Amino acid sequence: MIGSDINKAAELLKAGEIVAIPTETVYGLAANAFNDVAVTKVFEAKKRPSFDPLIVHTNSLEKVKLFVTHIPAEAKKLAEAIWPGPLTLILPKKTNIPGIVTSGNDTVGVRIPNHPLTLELLSLLDFPLAAPSANPFGYISPTTAKHVEAQLGNEVPYILDGGACEVGLESTIVSFAGDKPKVLRLGGLKIEQITEVIGEVDMQLSAGSNPQAPGQLDVHYAPSAKLILVENIEGELKKQGNVKDVGTISLSSYFGDLPRDNQIRLSPEGDINEAARNLFAAMRALDSMKLKIIIAEKMPEVGLGAAINDRLKRASV
Ligand code: TXA
Ligand code: MG
Repeated sequence: MIGSDINKAAELLKAGEIVAIPTETVYGLAANAFNDVAVTKVFEAKKRPSFDPLIVHTNSLEKVKLFVTHIPAEAKKLAEAIWPGPLTLILPKKTNIPGIVTSGNDTVGVRIPNHPLTLELLSLLDFPLAAPSANPFGYISPTTAKHVEAQLGNEVPYILDGGACEVGLESTIVSFAGDKPKVLRLGGLKIEQITEVIGEVDMQLSAGSNPQAPGQLDVHYAPSAKLILVENIEGELKKQGNVKDVGTISLSSYFGDLPRDNQIRLSPEGDINEAARNLFAAMRALDSMKLKIIIAEKMPEVGLGAAINDRLKRASV
C-alpha cells in the first residue's frame, strides 16, 4: 500500500516490519537496524545476498555516535558539510549493529538522508533504519513510490510516498575504514564537493577483488533489454541497421528515423543534475516497452556525469 502517513510507517517499523521510504537519492527498503529479525525481512524481500551490506540511516550526528565507535576528523568534517545529503560514510561499528546489517564487517555504512518525510520519520524512532535501495537485487533503483510498488508491492506492507527523488542516483560512499579516506562508489554527491572539504581522495571503485566494497558488483542496475553504452548514438544506430526494437537514452538529442517514443532525452537543456534525476526512470520506461536494445550515450564526465556513466556502464555489462 502507498501512502504518506508517517505515524503508520513508524508503527510498522517499531513492530519489526519493513517499510519503503523516500530519500533524496533513491527509495530505500527500511527496517530497524538494531533488530536482526526485521533486517532479515529486507534481505528476503529484495532477494539480496547476505554478503552485500546495508546502509544505516539516521537523522543526527548525535545519534550516529550511538552506533559507531569513532568518527575520524575528516569524516566529521564531511558529515558536517554535507549531511543531510547524498553521502554515505563507512565507519567502525559498535556491537549494537548486528552482523547481518554489515555482512559481518566491523564497519557500518551511515547516512543522514535529505528528505523531509524521512527525517521526520527518523525523529519519531529510537533506532536507526537499515535500508538498501528498494529494488529486487541487481535491478534498477526506484526513484518513485510507484517504482517500488511495481516490483516489491507484494513484499512490503507500506510504501511511504515522498514524491520523485530529487537527486536520482544512490549516495556517494566514502570509506574511513583504512588510514586514508577512499571513495568506494560514485553517486549523488559529486567528487568535487568532497575535494572541497577534505582535499584529494583515493578511489577504489571496482568490485572484483575489492573486499572493502562488498556489493559493488560490476553487473548491476540491469534492465532486461540489452544496454549498449556508446560515445555516439547515431553511429551505433547505423551499425545496428534494423532499428525496430531499439530505444535510446541521450543527454539532449533525438536521432534519425527512430520513433520519438523510443527515445528519451535525460535533459533537453543539457543539465547534468536533471539528467541524473531522470536516469533510472528512463531506464525503467524503455525496459517496460520490451525493446531488445537500449543504446545509451556517455555523458560528459563533469559533476554527476561520472556517476551516471558508472550506472550506465554497470547496466551494460
Ligand atoms: O542513496 C543510497 O545510498 C540508497 C538510499 C536508500 O540511502 N541506498 C543504497 O543502498 O543505495 P544499497 O544497498 O543499494 O547500496 C549499499 C552499498 C552496498 O552495496 C555496499 O557497496 C556499500 O553500500 N556498503 C554498505 N555497508 C558497507 C560497509 N560496511 N563496507 C563497505 N561498503 C558498504
Ligand atoms: Mg542498491
